[in-house]
Parts: sequence; structure tokens; C-alpha cells
Amino acid sequence: MSNANTQKELSPAPSLSLAGKKVVVVGGKTGIGLGIARAAQAAGAAVTVASRRVATVEERPDLAGFAQVRLDVRDESAVRAAFDVIGPFDHLIVTAAPDIGTWGAFMDADMHGVRSYLEGKFLGSWACARHAAPHLRAGGSITFLTGGMSARPKLGFTAVTSAFAAVEALSGSLALELAPLRVNTIRPGFVDTDMWSFLPDEHRDGLRKKVAETFPARRVGTPDDIAHAALFLMTNPYVTGTVIEVAGGENLVAAV
Ligand SMILES: NC(=O)c1ccc[n+]([C@@H]2O[C@H](COP(=O)([O-])OP(=O)(O)OC[C@H]3O[C@@H](n4cnc5c(N)ncnc54)[C@H](OP(=O)(O)O)[C@@H]3O)[C@@H](O)[C@H]2O)c1
Repeated sequence: MSNANTQKELSPAPSLSLAGKKVVVVGGKTGIGLGIARAAQAAGAAVTVASRRVATVEERPDLAGFAQVRLDVRDESAVRAAFDVIGPFDHLIVTAAPDIGTWGAFMDADMHGVRSYLEGKFLGSWACARHAAPHLRAGGSITFLTGGMSARPKLGFTAVTSAFAAVEALSGSLALELAPLRVNTIRPGFVDTDMWSFLPDEHRDGLRKKVAETFPARRVGTPDDIAHAALFLMTNPYVTGTVIEVAGGENLVAAV
């Protein structure tokens, strides 16, 4: 029998099915996280969404099909307790982050805002991985979320750039430390979610328009675009230690 045939028998083609798997999305009640939670459920997984608030069915009937867990990623003991309650599972996605913003130019930055952002985005991702890893089953994975600013800094966003770059470094490092668990990062471009609600409506509309005009994909991104990449990362057993840019070509054009 040829080597090629033997390989084929040993490694069936990866599928995007998550049937029988349990997925936890930290930050999964809104935006990109919710898109990933829905896609994972549609692919057959049982999904738990975790964030600072647990919503009632009356408030959020759309979350009825998910288990919910309360957890603040900045509180390490709460993170540990939450994963102890969740128990064994297969795939962790961390989309949770403090509201994005600018805390001023580097020399004038409000250090309270900077610390709080880094604590939520970077150390929050760290804590989730640290306390989820003991519960992840064989074949499991961790996926973090960053953004294009990790590679292309923008004036006024030093804290965001630094946090994203740190999360990507953490991701690579954990792909070694936690192997054979797989650890990857998705770097989205502009995705039209409530994360941008800090902008005045007029400014937000202008941003949408600029993105649709300048990004090679000629439209704004959606949570479904990112969810598709998350499914790939959860189900492809040979992808680890990588950063996937899902950004409509944002990396090829001038910053908007
Ligand atoms: N949207 C974009 O254009 C874009 C672009 C590049 C990168 N990203 C990255 O993608 C990630 C997700 O973005 P998104 O648009 O989905 O944002 P989003 O809609 O604002 O969602 C953020 C989620 O994080 C949760 N969260 C916030 N602070 C938390 C904390 N301390 N502990 C636990 N949960 C917390 C929130 O839920 P609760 O309020 O219930 O806690 C919320 O569900 C972010 O990390 C962002 O940096 C987004």
C-alpha cells in the first residue's frame, strides 16, 4: 500500500461538524461571540455563553438555546469558579473585551483606562485559557480574538495595539505550552457590532461607508464572517499557533 493511501486511512478529511462537542464562548452574548455561538450550535455543538451578565429569557429570547454562565474575565477567581462549574468541554473561544476606546495620546494617556483595558483584554484572555485548559478534552482548542491594530498601529490606540499584540504572543506561546491542545487567534477587520457604539451615530455611519468603499471585499464584516473562521479553527486538527486575518482585505489598504 502506498504512503498516500495509508495517510488517507489514518486521517479522514476534517469536517466542520461539531456534533457531540461542547463549546464555551466567553463574550458570546453579543456581536462576534454571539455569531460564533450560533454557528457552533448550528454545527451541532452544545454551547455555553459566558459574560458579566446572565440574561433572562424575557430579556433575550434568542439566547434560550444556550447555557449561560456569569463571569468577569478581570476576576481570576470568578473565572476559575466558572470553568469548574462548566466542567469538561471541547472548544473555548474568548471574544470578551472591555469597550474599545482611546485613552489619549501615549504621553497623556489616562493610565486607569489603559490598565483596565489591558487587564480585560490581555489578562482576561490569559485567565480564561489558564482555567479552561484543565477542563478541555483531548482534541480541544482555544481561539482568541484580536484585531488589525496588532500589526498596524493607529494613532491614539496604543493600549489596544499593545493588548492585541500581547494576546497574539500569548496564543503562540500557549500553542507550545498546552500542546496537543490547539491555540489560535482570529484577527477580524471592521465588523459591524455594538462594540462601535461608543462612536456617535454619524461617525459610525461614516466608518461603515469608508470600509465599504475602500476594503477590497467592498462591504463591512459580519459576525458570521468571523464565525466561519472560528468553525475552521475548532475543527481542523492540524492548525495551531496561527493568526488568521478575516478582514476583507483591510491589511492591503490605508487605515480608515
Ligand atoms: N467588532 C469589530 O469591528 C472588531 C474588530 C477587530 C477586533 N475585534 C475584537 O473582537 C472581540 C469581540 O468584539 P465584538 O464586536 O463582538 O464586541 P462586543 O459586541 O462589544 O462584545 C463584547 C462582549 O464581551 C463581554 N464582556 C465585556 N467585558 C467583559 C468582562 N470583563 N468579562 C466578561 N465578559 C465581558 C460583553 O458582555 P457583557 O457586557 O454581558 O459582559 C460582550 O458580550 C473584541 O475582543 C474586539 O477587540 C472586534
